[in-house]
Amino acid sequence: MRRLIPVIGLMLAVPLGAQQHDPATHQKHMVATSQSNKAIDGRQLVKFPEQMKEHTLANMRDHLLALQEIQAALASSDYDRAADVAETRLGMTALTAHGAHESSKFMPKGMQDAGSAMHRSASRFATTAKDASVTGEIKPAVGALAEVMGACVSCHTGYRLQ
Ligand code: HEC
Repeated sequence: MRRLIPVIGLMLAVPLGAQQHDPATHQKHMVATSQSNKAIDGRQLVKFPEQMKEHTLANMRDHLLALQEIQAALASSDYDRAADVAETRLGMTALTAHGAHESSKFMPKGMQDAGSAMHRSASRFATTAKDASVTGEIKPAVGALAEVMGACVSCHTGYRLQ
C-alpha cells in the first residue's frame, strides 16, 4: 500500500498544476505528467471480449459515481446510505450483480486480486459507516474509504483494457 502514495500525490498534482498558472507550479506539473506517462506505459494490456470490455467500462463509470455518492452521504451524516451504496455497488454484493465472476476468467492474477481487494474493502467500509451512525465517529469510515480508492488506484496503475 505504501508505494501507492506517490501515485496519489501525482494525481493530486495534475489538477492543481492545471488550475494555477504560476510557472513554478507549471514546472512541477510537467514533471508529474512525464512521470505519470511512464507509469501508464508500464500498464499491462488485458484483452476482454468487446462486449465485456464495454460492460466493464460502464461499470467503472458507475464505480466513480458510487464514490461520489458515498462522499456526499458522509458529508450529510447519512451513514446508512453511504454503507448501502458501498455494499451494493462496490462491495461483495456487487461482485455477483456485476458479472465480475465472468470477466475474472480473462484477468491476470494481480488484476483479480485488486478486484477482490476492492470488493472486500468496500464491504469493510460499509461496516465502518454503519458503526459511524452509532458512534458519530467518522474518521474510521474516511480511512476505510481511502482503502477502497487505493484498490482502484492499484488496479489502474497495473492494467488497461484498451
Ligand atoms: C481490478 C481492476 C480495477 C479496479 C479494482 C478498478 N478499476 Fe477502474 N478500470 C480498470 C481498467 C482496466 C480500466 C480501463 C483502463 C484503460 O484501458 O485505459 C478502468 C477504467 C476506469 C474508468 C474509465 C471508464 C471509461 O469509460 O473509460 C473509471 C472512471 C474507473 N475505472 C473508475 C474506477 C473506480 C472509481 C474504481 C474503484 C472504486 C475502479 N475503477 C476500480 C480496472 C479496475
